[in-house]
Amino acid sequence: MAKVTFSSPLLHGEKTVYAVAGDTKTILALAEEHKIPIPFECKDGNCGSCLIEVTYADPTEKNGIHLTEKEKSRLKELGKLTAQEIEDAEVRDMPPKHRLACQFIARDEDVTVSFTGEPGGA
Ligand code: FES
Repeated sequence: MAKVTFSSPLLHGEKTVYAVAGDTKTILALAEEHKIPIPFECKDGNCGSCLIEVTYADPTEKNGIHLTEKEKSRLKELGKLTAQEIEDAEVRDMPPKHRLACQFIARDEDVTVSFTGEPGGA
């Protein structure tokens, strides 16, 4: 079971929720289910509104790092993903700092998801 802690100036403190093991919900779907206001428009990796910053409780547990081509290209366009981060993710299983909430699925790892509340403003 993944423990997902949401952190934002829009929340009063942090809010922690649990993703059921084997669940394939995106972070955005999990946030919506728990009424956590991550901005979004397309829900399809195109607009960049749902930009989040992700930190891992245990750096050795990183099961959700797979980046789709769509997410990679949108994050690059936003200036939130460097060539080094792409190489680190693909070759060394090191997750990038920024993700799109509509594309990222937390599996068994515990993460903190930060967002400002401004579209694309993580
Ligand atoms: Fe558009 Fe996630 S909602 S990229």
